[in-house]
Amino acid sequence: MYSAPTWDPQQYLRHSGHRTRPFLDLLGRIPDLPGDAARAAGRTGDVRPARIADLGCGPGNVTALLADRWPDAHITGFDLSPEMLEQAEKHYAGTTSGGGWLDFRPADAAHWTPDEPYDLIVSNAALQWVPNHPESFPLWLEGLTPGGTLAFQVPGNFTSPSHALLGELCDTPQWHSRLADQGRRFVHILEPADYLTRLTDLGCQVDVWETTYSQLLPGEDPVLDWVKGTALRPVLTALAGDDEAIQTFLDQYRTLLRQAYPPGRHGTVFPFRRIFAVARKP
Ligand SMILES: C[S@@+](CC[C@H](N)C(=O)[O-])C[C@H]1O[C@@H](n2cnc3c(N)ncnc32)[C@H](O)[C@@H]1O
Repeated sequence: MYSAPTWDPQQYLRHSGHRTRPFLDLLGRIPDLPGDAARAAGRTGDVRPARIADLGCGPGNVTALLADRWPDAHITGFDLSPEMLEQAEKHYAGTTSGGGWLDFRPADAAHWTPDEPYDLIVSNAALQWVPNHPESFPLWLEGLTPGGTLAFQVPGNFTSPSHALLGELCDTPQWHSRLADQGRRFVHILEPADYLTRLTDLGCQVDVWETTYSQLLPGEDPVLDWVKGTALRPVLTALAGDDEAIQTFLDQYRTLLRQAYPPGRHGTVFPFRRIFAVARKP
């Protein structure tokens, strides 16, 4: 198991609107699951409720959106962070409007294998933390029912100034000994064409695309506030307990971000590229 950073659900959720949108765009491209037609026709006796896994579910708010589309499904969110799981449990675990239910379990997506047949395995903004995740595709697809879907979204912004500057700052002589690799450790994504090829090689019908959202963020230093919920977690975890070092690091990073993302008339524009893949098993 890799050494995971500590997550802060409240900080992560501060930008939940912008963070949720790519998930909704992903959800919009997921085809009907096996049994959906029978369920829509009221022939629920013919099929079991849909079974869904959400890998790296975080605080559970996007996991809960799955229940809006599949109200009678059994949906399980898996995550490595006790802080995230606690938040998800507290707010979303239990029965859903259509008689389905949501539960949450600890799991490392790097080693997760389906323990029963799933109709949908989904992951939003999490697989970038999972080295070698494409090597798990065959196992995950094997665990899907015929006609089931693997769908995920990963950020594709690791060369953008927010991440490049973080990596460069961690590499400066002042920080190198304490933060070596922290700023760059999470670049585990493939380019869209590579996801497309790998999943098609595995026999799936595949839809891969990318979108760059021009996110307009309000307030002062909003990009710093954004990355405090995600990309900065490894740095904040490595410096935990040394408040002075955290403050110094944040001050230096803030200065760099202000130059890279100057506020405009309507707020700060923070372009964010994301990569999407939907693979349907034949
Ligand atoms: C950016 S958050 C995304 C949360 C949620 N999916 C969402 O869209 O809001 C990334 C999540 O991935 C989880 N994560 C990171 N590495 C993981 C791993 N190896 N196994 C399971 N979860 C992991 C983190 O704990 C965190 O909750």
